[in-house]
Amino acid sequence: MYRTNTCGELTIANVGSRVRLSGWVQRSRDLGGMTFIDLRDRYGITQLVFNMDSRADLCQQARKLGREWVISIWGIVAERSSKNAKLSTGDIEIIVDELEVLNSSKVPPFTIEDQSDGGDELRMKYRYLDLRRNPLRQAMELRHRMAILTRNYLNDQKFMEIETPYLIKSTPEGARDFVVPSRMNANQFYALPQSPQTFKQLLMVAGYDRYFQIVRCFRDEDLRADRQPEFTQIDCEMAFVEQEDILNTFEGLSRHLFREVKGFDPGEFPRMTFATAMEKYGSDKPDIRFGMEIVNLNQLVKTGAFKVFDEAELVGGINATGCGNYTRKELDTLTDWVKRPQIGATGLVYIKINADGTCKSSVDKFYSPEELKAIANLFNAQPDDLILILAGKESRTRKALGELRLEMGSRLGYRNPEVFAPLWVVDFPLLEWDEETQRFYAMHHPFTAPKPEDIELMSTDPGAVRANAYDMVINGVEVGGGSIRIFNKDLQNKALKLLGFSEEEAQNQFGFLMNAFEFGAPPHGGIAYGFDRLCALFGGQDSIRDFIAFPKNNAGRDMMIDSPSAIKQEQLEELYLSLVKPEQK
Ligand code: AMO
Repeated sequence: MYRTNTCGELTIANVGSRVRLSGWVQRSRDLGGMTFIDLRDRYGITQLVFNMDSRADLCQQARKLGREWVISIWGIVAERSSKNAKLSTGDIEIIVDELEVLNSSKVPPFTIEDQSDGGDELRMKYRYLDLRRNPLRQAMELRHRMAILTRNYLNDQKFMEIETPYLIKSTPEGARDFVVPSRMNANQFYALPQSPQTFKQLLMVAGYDRYFQIVRCFRDEDLRADRQPEFTQIDCEMAFVEQEDILNTFEGLSRHLFREVKGFDPGEFPRMTFATAMEKYGSDKPDIRFGMEIVNLNQLVKTGAFKVFDEAELVGGINATGCGNYTRKELDTLTDWVKRPQIGATGLVYIKINADGTCKSSVDKFYSPEELKAIANLFNAQPDDLILILAGKESRTRKALGELRLEMGSRLGYRNPEVFAPLWVVDFPLLEWDEETQRFYAMHHPFTAPKPEDIELMSTDPGAVRANAYDMVINGVEVGGGSIRIFNKDLQNKALKLLGFSEEEAQNQFGFLMNAFEFGAPPHGGIAYGFDRLCALFGGQDSIRDFIAFPKNNAGRDMMIDSPSAIKQEQLEELYLSLVKPEQK
C-alpha cells in the first residue's frame, strides 16, 4: 500500500491521524530548523514538514530531494499555524516520520506550475510533464467528465454505442484522406475515416435506429487552433426522424452538458437561416453574444459620387459603438488590419459621430453632411460611435465584415468566454460552386437530403437548392453539424451526378451505400459534434490542443514520439512502395 490517502483530501477533520502519501515533489523550502515540501499528485497538494529538532536525519534527507522526485512518506496530520485558503488541504500539514524515495528525477526542462516557463515546442516534446500541470489536468478532467455525461445521456435516450472500422476506403469528397498501404493487397490502400458517415447510415439500414460513438476521425487538412489531423467526434444517427426530432434531441444533449458542467441552462436555442447568418454576421457560424450586425448600404451610397462604392457589389458596414474616439493612427492600424490577406478588404471607410450628432468621415468630400447622417441613422448610431464600412465583391466583403465585426467585438470586450450563446444555423445550401474547378461541391456531404420543396430546382437551378442541413454554433464556433440524409437510390444518384460523378464512379465509390438503399433503408439523419471543440469551449479556450492528451503541432508532427518518420527499406518493399524525393514531385 503506497498511500492511505491522496494529496488532495486531508482536512482539519483528519488531524491526529497517521497517514501515508505518495507523489511528486512540487517544491521545497529549507528554513534551517524546518524543511517544507509540497507533495503533489493528481488530486492536489499537501504540505509536508520535516523537523530538524525531532528528526534531523529525515530533515537532512528531505533537503536533498529535487523537483519532481517521486517519494512516499508516513506522518501525522497536524493543524497548520499559517493556513492557505487557496488549497483544499491548506488547513493541515503532515509531520513526517518516515520518508522513502521511490524515484529521482532529472531537473524538468520547464517549471511544472500553472504558468510554465516552457515554450510550446518544449512542452509538446515533454508532454507527459506538461500534463502534470494543473491547467492540462483540469482540461483532461473536463474532457473525461463531458464524455461520461454524453454517454450516460445518450444511453438514457436509448442510443447504442457501436464501433465502426478505422481502415476504410478512400473517398474523393471533403478533406484529404490519410491512407494506409495494404501489405496483403499489392498497391492497394485503406483510408482512415474522415468520419463514420457511411457506416452510421448503414447501421440505420441495419435497424439500429439510435447510434452514437465517441470516435476518432482523421483529416489531412491544414491545421489551425481548432483543427487537428486526428480529432474526436460525438457521432450520432437516428432513423424515423425529421430535422425537428434531431434538433430537439441534440439541443437536449447540449443543454444537459451546460447544466451539469457549467451550472446553467441556456434555454431554447434560437434558429437562424444560413442566408440570415451570412447577411447579418458575414459568417455561417455567427457569434451572437453581441449585436453589431452588418448593414447593407447599397441603397444609400451608390449616388455616383464615389467610384469605389458605385462599382462595388456590396457596400456594408458595422457600428463599433463607443469607438468614435479612435485616433487617426488607430484607424490607420485598423485599415492595415482589414487589408491583410486573411481578411482581404481593399480599404476601410469610417464615419465618426461627433458629440453634437454631426459626422466626420473619410469620405466627406463625396457625401454631404445630410447623406452621412442618413447612413448613421441606418445604424441607429449615437454620439461617439464609429461606423466602419467595407466595399467590394459581395461574398468577400461579407466575410471581411464578419471578421471585422469579431475583431471589434473582441476589442470592446463582448466576447467573454464565460458567456455562452448557442444557436442552430439551418437551411444550408445543398451545393457550393467552386470558381477554380468550375463545379459544385457538397456543402455538407454528398448524402445530405435536399429540402423536398427544392428537389425540382436540382435540375434547373442547383445552386439555389436548400438542404435539410444544420450546424450547432456556440460563440462563433461550429461545434457540430449534420443533416437529414437521402435514403433513396435514385435521389442519391441524382445528387452524385450534380457533384460530377459519372454513374460508374458513383457505383465504384458509393455502390455499397446505394445497394444498401435497395434493401429497405428507413428515413434517417444525424449529427456529429466536434468533441475537442466542445471541450475547449467549455474550458474557455480557443485552442483545442490542450484538450487532447497527445496532440500534433501545427505542422502535423508529434514532437514527443517524433512522428511522422521514415520507415526502413524492407518495410517499404513489403508494402510495394518506393520513395519520391520532394524535389521530384
Ligand atoms: P463535419 O465535417 O461538419 O460533419 O464535422 C463535424 C464536426 O467535427 C468538428 N471538426 C473538427 N474538429 C477538430 N479538428 C478538425 N480537423 C475537425 N474537422 C471537423 C467540427 C464539426 O462541426 N459526418 C458529418 C456529420 C453528420 O452529417 O452527421 C461530419 O463529419 O466541430
